[in-house]
Amino acid sequence: QAQPRPLAAKPKDEPDPDDGRQRVVIFFGTQTGTAEGFAKALAEEAKARYDRAVFKVVDLDDYAAEDEEYEEKLKKENIALFFLATYGDGEPTDNAARFYKWFSEENERGEWLSNLRFGVFGLGNRQYEHFNKIGKMVDQLLAEQGGKRIVPVGLGDDDQCIEDDFNAWKELLWPELDKLLRQEDDSSAAAAATPYTAAIPEYRVVFVKPEDATNINKSFSLSNGHAVYDIQHPCRANVAVRRELHTPASDRSCIHLEFDIAGTGLKYETGDHIGVYAENCIEIVEEAEKLLGYSPDTLFSIYADQEDGTPLCGGSLPPPFPSPCTVRTALTRYADLLNSPKKSALLALAAHASDPKEAERLRHLASPAGKKEYSQWIVTSQRSLLEVMSEFPSAKPPLGVFFAAISPRLQPRYYSISSSPRMAPTRIHVTCALVYGPTPTGRIHKGVCSTWMKHSTPLEESQECSWAPIFVRQSNFKLPADPNVPIVMIGPGTGLAPFRGFLQERLALKEAGVELGHAILFFGCRNRKMDFIYEDELNNFVDTGALSKLIVAFSREGPTKEYVQHKMAQKAAELWSIISQGGYIYVCGDAKGMARDVHRTLHTIIQEQGSLDNSKTESYVKSLQTEGRYLRDVW
Ligand code: 2AM
Repeated sequence: QAQPRPLAAKPKDEPDPDDGRQRVVIFFGTQTGTAEGFAKALAEEAKARYDRAVFKVVDLDDYAAEDEEYEEKLKKENIALFFLATYGDGEPTDNAARFYKWFSEENERGEWLSNLRFGVFGLGNRQYEHFNKIGKMVDQLLAEQGGKRIVPVGLGDDDQCIEDDFNAWKELLWPELDKLLRQEDDSSAAAAATPYTAAIPEYRVVFVKPEDATNINKSFSLSNGHAVYDIQHPCRANVAVRRELHTPASDRSCIHLEFDIAGTGLKYETGDHIGVYAENCIEIVEEAEKLLGYSPDTLFSIYADQEDGTPLCGGSLPPPFPSPCTVRTALTRYADLLNSPKKSALLALAAHASDPKEAERLRHLASPAGKKEYSQWIVTSQRSLLEVMSEFPSAKPPLGVFFAAISPRLQPRYYSISSSPRMAPTRIHVTCALVYGPTPTGRIHKGVCSTWMKHSTPLEESQECSWAPIFVRQSNFKLPADPNVPIVMIGPGTGLAPFRGFLQERLALKEAGVELGHAILFFGCRNRKMDFIYEDELNNFVDTGALSKLIVAFSREGPTKEYVQHKMAQKAAELWSIISQGGYIYVCGDAKGMARDVHRTLHTIIQEQGSLDNSKTESYVKSLQTEGRYLRDVW
């Protein structure tokens, strides 16, 4: 087992080296923290390998305040590594969006990056159409603009084991960095021969007596009153309304939830997303308490630095959650207990397993030799962290290790907002399908946020209502600026959500006397009597003229499946007429199946109706996308 390396004192923002050491900048574009984690892990490992270089991990958004600054600063870099996640419909992460837009737009910069050597590791999921689009694009653009690629672009696949992809990419990177950062007589060259095993990260935990705890964090400490709410500064919002949208005949569940944002200053626009920090349900938390061996009331404070302020783990730990708090609060609000553990988590568990056999098996699962087993026993079986821990009962990690190395931070979940501020200025509506079903091991998986929503108590029912920290993420999924432009909306299931917002907005415009263009909605569900969500509202939109045509595909009513794309094909001529008049096409919902099939159907419609050949059709669809007339909000 690796011994923790001595911690070197390091000022928070390291100045650039003026001692001749080379500077390597490691950028990350992260949404859920994986890219950031890889960037920091790489920096830690690299610091141990190379004395002659300084490694800086930089959030792409923080690197430059303006576009020109990106240009000025990048020009001066010699070695840069990029960790870039792709999400949604082939989009960059929020913190990489500004950089990506600037870097990928048409420019006259020429080969201005000839001083730069670079490597890109992308994080994506092969199940999606635009697998690792951002990583691939940035890799290509860096080369086109004169940069020298030192390793092939890494294509991390979250559908399998992205840690393995990262490790494999690192093995290609080290020999190249050796050439750039080491000299022949380099004493640290010896370090290269022995593989580096990273120390297990650990927060400092101090147990607190209840009488000494002045401000116990029972809740999210972040209060209202911020000028700007964002992922780090969410807004506390009460659940005002909760309603089941499926009928009792359905064996599934879909929740309509309304967050009350009156008086908070939180603003949103039709088509935006809401981020929700939910809580783990009590049974899961109790199980985690038992497995860890702590009583729920145990109070502790958690720090990412030593008592003298020296950052732990070279400053690579994310800031800890607000404390002092109880074990119950920490596990409820901050621990991701239901995802499968990463290999690094297995190693951390192994280090704290008192039974040597268990430790050995955990290490094996995390090792290259255990690759197949990890993939089958953990990934394919969808074994949750708690399930794995229950198979290794002797592994009792301390809280500092558990929160730093074993359980990732519970992430906010995103939903397309299903209201319009024109209709609901003080409410944010969410339409959420319950995630519930058996995994291959027989466990019933209950999605964290949808389960929380389903069991939440609305203000309608009790003054002691549920609340959650929330924030709004802007999107470009917006109605045309000119309400007269015709639109086509395609959204089966909860893909209907943003279109309910669109239609509320159109209704408000109509009531204000604005003339509206033609609007068609393709909605799909299984059965009229079970999951035709918002049926009355949709009919009302038609009656009032906010919606010109509602076309519904019922997939489980007749002998054959009928999907939205089949209905689209039947309306090919009408769709073509809308498209060729300059209309907008919107698709929302599942990216892996539906959006892909709808895309193909759209392609066919354009090809046939426009009498275009395949490549002309491709460029036609591309131009719709670049003009912002074919927009997708998919997940
Ligand atoms: P199914 O469950 O009967 O297969 C909302 O989830 C609706 O989308 C359901 O009617 C579902 O049908 C349907 N659906 C499933 N896969 C789809 C696909 N690839 N394209 C379009 N609709 C799909």
